[in-house]
Amino acid sequence: MKEKLSAILEGALKELDSIQDTAAIENLKVRVLGKKGELTGLLRGMGSVAPEERPIVGQMINDVRKQLETAIEEKQLKLMETEKLKKLEAETIDITMPGREVKRGTVHPMYQVQKKLIDIFVGMGFTVADGPEIELDHFNFELMNIPKNHPARDAQDTFYFNDNILLRTHTSPVQAHVMLTQKPPIRIICPGRVYRADEVDATHSPVFHQIEGLVIDKGITMADLKGTLDTFARQLYGEGIDTRFRPSFFPFTEPSAEVDVRCSACKGKGCRICKGTGYIEILGAGMVNPKVLEMCGIDPTEYTGFAFGMGIERVTNLKYNIKDMRLLYENDVRFIEQFK
Ligand code: DAH
Repeated sequence: MKEKLSAILEGALKELDSIQDTAAIENLKVRVLGKKGELTGLLRGMGSVAPEERPIVGQMINDVRKQLETAIEEKQLKLMETEKLKKLEAETIDITMPGREVKRGTVHPMYQVQKKLIDIFVGMGFTVADGPEIELDHFNFELMNIPKNHPARDAQDTFYFNDNILLRTHTSPVQAHVMLTQKPPIRIICPGRVYRADEVDATHSPVFHQIEGLVIDKGITMADLKGTLDTFARQLYGEGIDTRFRPSFFPFTEPSAEVDVRCSACKGKGCRICKGTGYIEILGAGMVNPKVLEMCGIDPTEYTGFAFGMGIERVTNLKYNIKDMRLLYENDVRFIEQFK
């Protein structure tokens, strides 16, 4: 019995020594000390021990049990401690490590310019109007004095949904929406997307942006138009910049002009950017055609007005000397990032 006991004790202690994780200790505990364990088995075998020796043997078994229990407990504590340390080590954070860079977005250069244009005109007392991009032929053409079969329709390759519905080819129809719903004095601008069935190249896109302007009041003259556009040009490109009017034709204005802005790069001396002319064409404008006023419910004997329209891409490209319009649409961050 004694030998069996010390064999169990020694075997268990030796095994305990080599154990490296808490789960294995649990196994050992069950196998030796558990209800069906080796030591309990010995206790059951007490029947074969002489009655006078039973207390001594019982005492011995209990001693071994105590010894083993303490040894197991100590080992358990030790292992738990090392396992905790290991876990802590694995979870350490190096607080001196630099953080991951957060990529900051940029407002698209064209929208920066659009905001600037709006700011300039709002500063002159204009309010921002809005109109639908899916438009009726009636507004896009008829009310702009471009009747069916008018040659001006050919100049704008239109996306039609059907005979009456189309994607607006310019922001000018917003003029009609405003005149039909507001009473003069009117002073609005309208930035927005416009559509034309053009092939994509360096200067064309089927979708682009315009900003329209409309002023209607008693006694508005071409001088007001010129003054407004000069002020606009100076605010956009700086002092020393003015505009030049060239006679032109638009069905919705009479008289009409194409407006050039003095080249901001050479201040009018002539350079590569303005192709030596000193001026760069940026917009169309004119006095609102009395026919348009009439169709839109405004009495042309009482009121006059001016209108203008410009391409936002064009203004942006001139401002930043961008040679290819496609760069504005590709959204390559390497391009966009340059306009922070
Ligand atoms: N709507 C014209 C276009 O798309 C631009 C324009 C010219 C607008 C003269 C105007 C204007 O308001 O008066 O080409």
